[in-house]
Amino acid sequence: MQTFTTAVELSGYLSAARKKGERIGFVPTMGALHPGHAALIQRSAAEQAVTVASIFVNPTQFNVGSDLLAYPRTPEADSALLTAHGCNLLYMPGIEDVYPAGTGENRAANLDFGSLTARMEGAYRPGHFAGVAQVVSRLLEIVGPDVLYLGQKDYQQVAVVRRMIELLGLGIEVVTVPTVREADGLALSSRNRLLQPQERTAAGRINLHLAAVAAGIRAGWPARELEKTAVLNMRSEPLLEPEYVEVVDGRTLLPYQDGDSAEELIVATAVQVGRVRLIDNRIIGPA
Ligand code: PAJ
Repeated sequence: MQTFTTAVELSGYLSAARKKGERIGFVPTMGALHPGHAALIQRSAAEQAVTVASIFVNPTQFNVGSDLLAYPRTPEADSALLTAHGCNLLYMPGIEDVYPAGTGENRAANLDFGSLTARMEGAYRPGHFAGVAQVVSRLLEIVGPDVLYLGQKDYQQVAVVRRMIELLGLGIEVVTVPTVREADGLALSSRNRLLQPQERTAAGRINLHLAAVAAGIRAGWPARELEKTAVLNMRSEPLLEPEYVEVVDGRTLLPYQDGDSAEELIVATAVQVGRVRLIDNRIIGPA
């Protein structure tokens, strides 16, 4: 694997690959890589001639300064993981390379995501998706991939990025990779390594509360009641402080109304576990 710290060097390498007709897969990350990230790399490496990963902790998507400061950084282990899973090129830029005109420059600034950012992370992390759209649009400009690989773990992020690609007319295909979990069902996350042992145990139960909501929906129980019960049940556990549990239509990301039909229903949550904020979701299925 070759590592580049500037867009200029990377572009040179990629234009040579493109001239040879090689297709480029891209996996953007913020580092502190784990097997969830590895699954994205592996998928791209299996499907594309060239796989590019980026590691950049994007300050513009953090709405809480302490979260940005605490964000784990493990560059050596990251390089090893990427190499082991078939990544060809790593782009690990400084902030000046991503935002040469400053963080105010944002070609995704005026995009309207409508209902996609109205709720869940959009409501609880003001400015978060504006920052995600800003950095992803810039990274796509630098890398120019054919296919972008994203994790289902960040379901709302996938919806926003897909829409951004459509609105900007970028013509990049998006592949969503299923969430990789620990043995107890905890979704892998870079933030998991910030959990104290008891918090880690508690966090392992988040997915069970989501599974209970999914089972309730399939059994025909009212969505709002199931959401409320899940919030109360999580609160009754030591160390879990849920922000929201929402059953939404996967297409609009608006609350599911009982009896409506939907191609794909999702139940999603954000939970504060000690000082760490975790998100997770489950696909319930069609309604
Ligand atoms: P990060 O949290 O590092 O995640 C990078 C990619 O890995 C995202 O597409 C995310 O959904 C995926 N991912 C994370 N945990 C996963 C898991 N357990 N299973 C499968 N995939 C998983 O998401 C970001 O970074 C940033 O917002 C970014 C897109 C890089 C923009 O800054």
